Amino acid sequence: METTEFDFEDRMVSTEYTGVDSDIELSLRPKQLEDYIGQEKAKDILSVYIDSAKLRGEPLDHVLLYGPPGLGKTTLSNIIANEMNVNIRTTSGPAIEKQGDLAAILTSLNEGDVLFIDEIHRLPRAVEEILYPAMEDYALDIIIGKGPSARNVRLPIPKFTLIGATTRAGQLTTPLRDRFGVLLKLQLYTPEELSTIVKRSATILDIPAEDGGALEIATRSRGTPRIANRLLKRIRDFAIVRGDGIITTEIARSALDKLEIDALGLDNTDRQMLTAIIQYYGGGPVGLETLAATIGEEAITIEDVYEPYLMQIGFLSRTPRGRCATRLAYDHLGLPFTPETVAEPPITFLPQDEH
Ligand code: ADE
Repeated sequence: METTEFDFEDRMVSTEYTGVDSDIELSLRPKQLEDYIGQEKAKDILSVYIDSAKLRGEPLDHVLLYGPPGLGKTTLSNIIANEMNVNIRTTSGPAIEKQGDLAAILTSLNEGDVLFIDEIHRLPRAVEEILYPAMEDYALDIIIGKGPSARNVRLPIPKFTLIGATTRAGQLTTPLRDRFGVLLKLQLYTPEELSTIVKRSATILDIPAEDGGALEIATRSRGTPRIANRLLKRIRDFAIVRGDGIITTEIARSALDKLEIDALGLDNTDRQMLTAIIQYYGGGPVGLETLAATIGEEAITIEDVYEPYLMQIGFLSRTPRGRCATRLAYDHLGLPFTPETVAEPPITFLPQDEH
């Protein structure tokens, strides 16, 4: 797929980890719940469950964190382990290929430890089945032998807390979802919350940033701390080279303009997607797969990465018949609100015999 100008990995506003993020992400991650900014509802509920579990002297119930990427699910899991004074073991759904992989992890845990499984919706089904008795009864059911002499043996494992993270709670099987005692949905952050996060990060990284500069970064970070922290570092470079090292409103604005991230945090791909809906499909509705083929993106990426923010700012609606651009999107792109006007769709695929 060659039709997009930006590769997903290259997107300045990508919510995926990129290589450059790993060191800063670690240094910027809050270690305690009280230092974690935003997600007030989730924090409030969690603090009650953590305190109760500690008073009862038992592990915290299993927790499922879900929501768009980049909102701090990993950070929150580390905080939970820290607040519970236990170790955390981190892995991900696709990394656990066989039942034995998970069995090895489960038997190596200490009493009360947290096992964090990122992208838990991608756990292979056979592995998932090992989790059921592990979560429910703290037991591993293994089969010894083959054929008629095969027997079921139940091995106890240490009591532990499973924290599962997913961008798609809907893709979890019901038996797995039902075994989580605590379900927490993380929301996109407000510009004010993000601005506080940017200022905190700037202090840790020793980057001088004025309030206006921090707010400018915040409003263009699509509700996502991971993006805000990445932009902070990039804009620092502009401040050093083009200014006097301080992130002012003006420096932030001109740097973000250069990066082609507009006043609301949309990049070329967002604009391309909205423009396609408006110009080729009369504003919609257009099916997800059709839209994906038109802009050369994967449907799953559109759903997980692009759409949450576009819906939050009211630019896009999901209807049973497909995606629609709203009037706000037309206005932002400077296009006349005439939904019936349809241009010719681009030719993204020509059957062999038509070449
Ligand atoms: N860094 C990334 N996410 C954060 C959050 N929610 N609070 C504080 N610092 C953060």
